[in-house]
Amino acid sequence: MADQPTSHPRKKLYIETVGCQMNVLDSELVVARLRDDGYELTTDIEEADAILYNTCSVRQHAEDKIYSALGRIKQLKKRKPELSIGVLGCMAQKDQNLILKRAPHVDIVVGPGQLARVPELLTIAKAEAKPQLAVSLARTAGSRDDVTSSFDNYDSDREPSVRPSPFQAYLRVMMGCDKFCTYCIVPSVRGPEQSRPPDGIVAEARALAGQGVKEITLIGQTVNSYKFREPDGRTTRLSDLLARLHDVEGVERIKFITNFPNDMTDDLLQAVRDLPKVSRYIHVPAQSGCDLVLKRMKRMYTVGFYEDMLARLRETIPGSSVSSDFIVGFCGETDESFQKTIGLVERSRFKNSFIFKYSPRTGTKADDLFADDVPEEVKKRRNHELLELQTAISLEDNMEFVGRETTVLVEGRSRSTTRREGWDGVDQLSGRTHCDRIVVFDGPERLIGRMVQVRIENASGVTLFGQVVTAERIASSV
Ligand code: 5AD
Ligand code: SF4
Repeated sequence: MADQPTSHPRKKLYIETVGCQMNVLDSELVVARLRDDGYELTTDIEEADAILYNTCSVRQHAEDKIYSALGRIKQLKKRKPELSIGVLGCMAQKDQNLILKRAPHVDIVVGPGQLARVPELLTIAKAEAKPQLAVSLARTAGSRDDVTSSFDNYDSDREPSVRPSPFQAYLRVMMGCDKFCTYCIVPSVRGPEQSRPPDGIVAEARALAGQGVKEITLIGQTVNSYKFREPDGRTTRLSDLLARLHDVEGVERIKFITNFPNDMTDDLLQAVRDLPKVSRYIHVPAQSGCDLVLKRMKRMYTVGFYEDMLARLRETIPGSSVSSDFIVGFCGETDESFQKTIGLVERSRFKNSFIFKYSPRTGTKADDLFADDVPEEVKKRRNHELLELQTAISLEDNMEFVGRETTVLVEGRSRSTTRREGWDGVDQLSGRTHCDRIVVFDGPERLIGRMVQVRIENASGVTLFGQVVTAERIASSV
């Protein structure tokens, strides 16, 4: 770490992150690098010396929000010409120079495979008074090796202060995606699929545990496709990696997201069943319940295959919960195809589903080949209908927990908690069960980061409510 003279005031960094867990982790790494470069974080955009947006390209809406944020800070830059502004991540890789055209007050545009260069690019932009663009090669711009090596791996830098919480951390096991679902921009902006060497992942998990991290979430666009071949031919699958991480002292819970249905192999399901630290929660997006739509999406499975996989999963891992993603209003989705999705959701009993309206992305196969022919009103209606159905199912399933005791890893104060006048030291806390259900209950803040037993007394579609049953025992062991 570069030494900072104590008399030198640190520069202020304001960073906003949108999108998926990959971006949350990327921001952590960027902040780590910039701290070494003399920056400290601020939440006040007005006092920032540098404003960075770590962006998402998955849907148009996410991009629109960033362009409006850039519009809003134009005046700030006029008032403070020394202010540095950066657009990082997927939108930077996708739009490249277009960002500088639409927002000429931006100083750096940096794709997800170039983020290690952010500090250097900020310096160059300032020294040369010229915007800097750093992106990786397009998927068709060279050999696979060339394109792959243009997406840099810089995961060893970590910065605890921007984690979801001090004891929860993301750990990237793979980068990129090779599935090329026709609607999805991710393979273009995040590059070719690469699995990281297991030794590095385990070393990182040990380091995280040493910093007090108890819950590690392994992330990859298709995390269950993880496969690393050693030069001697030995192969590490995700199940093997989970077993190795299970041995890391201090780590109490391990999750992994997101899974691809075709790669849900028996060895992985058995690992989840047999390794007690591994959360019994699997996010495995179905995207649609209609074979014709799945084919047009190039998902490479049928509804029948998906349901068989689900049955196998539930048979192997009792007490597990499954969640899914759905896109409604994809090109050519008729009422009949939508009804098939409704049918799949009715039968599958997902813990929850993330539902998105199809958003055409320039550069994807679907945008090239198919018309975005479902009107916005219909997309909205289908989104609403599917969400209502899922919420009703989630509520029914959550009600099953009422009267039962469950182990909860306490994540923090519940979002709705505000300390009241005459506060008695009892907060409303929030945590998750082993199958990833959110539990809210009263308890002292010192329970944060600990496993507690909670008796569930009530439930809504998204939350279980209960009382701690082991507070005394836990309190005395603190
Ligand atoms: N439009 C709408 N939703 C999309 N997703 C990916 N691409 C698009 C798109 N073009 C959704 C998928 C994926 C989730 C992360 O985002 O459901 O699983
Ligand atoms: Fe996108 Fe499909 Fe890859 Fe997921 S598996 S990131 S939806 S291309």
